[in-house]
Amino acid sequence: MKPLRIALTKGRLEKDTVALFEKIGYDCEAVRNKGRRLILPVGDSLEVVLAKAADVITYVEHGVCDMGVVGKDVIMEHGSSFYEVLDLGFGRCRFALAAPKGADFWSGYSARTIATKYPATARAFFESRGMDVRIIKIEGSVELAPLLGLSDAIVDIVETGTTLKENGLEVVETICPISARLIVNIASLKLRKQEIESLVGKMESAAKTGKEETL
Ligand code: PRP
Repeated sequence: MKPLRIALTKGRLEKDTVALFEKIGYDCEAVRNKGRRLILPVGDSLEVVLAKAADVITYVEHGVCDMGVVGKDVIMEHGSSFYEVLDLGFGRCRFALAAPKGADFWSGYSARTIATKYPATARAFFESRGMDVRIIKIEGSVELAPLLGLSDAIVDIVETGTTLKENGLEVVETICPISARLIVNIASLKLRKQEIESLVGKMESAAKTGKEETL
């Protein structure tokens, strides 16, 4: 039987997922010493693919990976034609609206300009408030936009709040919490139900004990 293929978001989520696999008892030696390789075996029954967050979704949607680990922020932005089966509990942060410290974002009638890496999420948030805004897509270091005078505020992920603080910005409103999710291709779940359910079960109990340990 060919191994189940799971796409991991490169970086922090990759490290947390590998730690979770090791807790379950999988041999992650190959991932730990990966060099520049992007497809790696984990134990005998799993194959890990390392990709950028949005690409994790693409590979799972197209069925070239059976499963994936990706942040809820990316899922919210890209939509989901896959199953989201588990909140893994790590990669915790939040979506927030932030503006220059002391600015009264909600007052006044002029249309606001919002800079963000997440235009769909930002649009949905302001639509839910019945507020018409102009959205400008930025690729990274979104905090720059209000500092340079491009936008009144940003919608971005906030983890420790340090980036906002060190750039004279503050959270105006938290939009929603974010954490890493386990996603599964729709056809894979039908075709390899038993293997996938067994892995999900193991990941769920390991993630739970992880949560208890951090409490
Ligand atoms: C993210 C996010 C914020 C920062 C928040 O950026 O877009 O800029 O982290 O973290 P903090 O609250 O702990 O300071 P990332 O590091 O992914 O880089 P990017 O902005 O270039 O995408």
